[in-house]
Amino acid sequence: MPLLEITDLTVSFDTPDGVVKAVNGMTLSLDARESLAIVGESGSGKTQLAFAILGLLAKNGRAAGSVRFEGQEILNLPETALNKVRANEIAMIFQDPMTSLNPYLTVGDQMAEVLILHKGVSKRDALDDSAKMLDAVRIPDARARLSMYPHEFSGGMRQRIMAAMALLCRPKLLIADEPTTALDVTVQNQIMELMADIQREFGTALILITHDLAIVAGSCLRTLVMYGGRVMETGPTDALFEAPSHPYTRGLLNAVPRLDIPQDKLLTIPGDPPDLTDLPAGCPFSPRCPVSHEPCATVMPRLESFDSARLRACHASREAVA
Ligand SMILES: Nc1ncnc2c1ncn2[C@@H]1O[C@H](COP(=O)(O)OP(=O)(O)O)[C@@H](O)[C@H]1O
Ligand SMILES: [Mg+2]
Repeated sequence: MPLLEITDLTVSFDTPDGVVKAVNGMTLSLDARESLAIVGESGSGKTQLAFAILGLLAKNGRAAGSVRFEGQEILNLPETALNKVRANEIAMIFQDPMTSLNPYLTVGDQMAEVLILHKGVSKRDALDDSAKMLDAVRIPDARARLSMYPHEFSGGMRQRIMAAMALLCRPKLLIADEPTTALDVTVQNQIMELMADIQREFGTALILITHDLAIVAGSCLRTLVMYGGRVMETGPTDALFEAPSHPYTRGLLNAVPRLDIPQDKLLTIPGDPPDLTDLPAGCPFSPRCPVSHEPCATVMPRLESFDSARLRACHASREAVA
């Protein structure tokens, strides 16, 4: 049984301008201890996918389809049941730690609060555990830092604290949404190393959400490329980077800075992201796709497997994409 199994998940929002279709039939499966990167440009539905899993959608949003965790349906569970899932089974790290850390509480107090609430331990034990967890995410002098406030830490350190908080109840799945976006490159690399260490040491499965392909290589064994709320392709990260099978992946890769390609030769994908209130009947990428043809705009290609471990949704031949 997979740890997480998402089938035909849709997320839509009611707005004055119409229905925003953010996620449009996502299907994915993740095994225990597995790591998966979900990549795509801003607006492709990555965060709303994660929010739907955890029941965190905004009030005007609704999700349909199925999300199974260890075989149990968790989509649209009542709040009390979801609270249990959130702390103990699936934890999330958000892009901006300052929005999820309470500025008025010391780091120790807010970490301890999580343990007292969900594990019913004493304050003293909770603080002990919190210090151990800060230590595990490589925060030097962890014990003393418990009495510090969030603003007293650097951005990278705050992201480590978020990771420590997320891991306190030993979740089986960690979802990290753009955990390194606001950080400089050196600190980004340290946080990515930390993610890999966490996965090894705690046996946690990891979903890493990012718009930045550069941080994916080396951090997750499998990658899923998302556009217009759909899976464009998914497969082992190495294979996907070496030979993308979807024109959108090819476009993303051409836009990643590389040492062997001069900066001014970087290509961005021409065209605008899709209007989610008015998606084409076919492939959402078809209006921007360099190899689009009949029937791309009208018929959504099915997600089909090739090379045993890979899947792609594209009408073009793989030769045309390479
Ligand atoms: N509450 C909301 N109401 C209307 N549209 C929303 C709401 N929340 C998110 N969206 C839209 O859903 C789309 C997908 O957003 P998101 O999942 O955050 O993208 P990503 O994380 O890939 O950058 C975006 O177009 C965004 O504007
Ligand atoms: Mg996002």
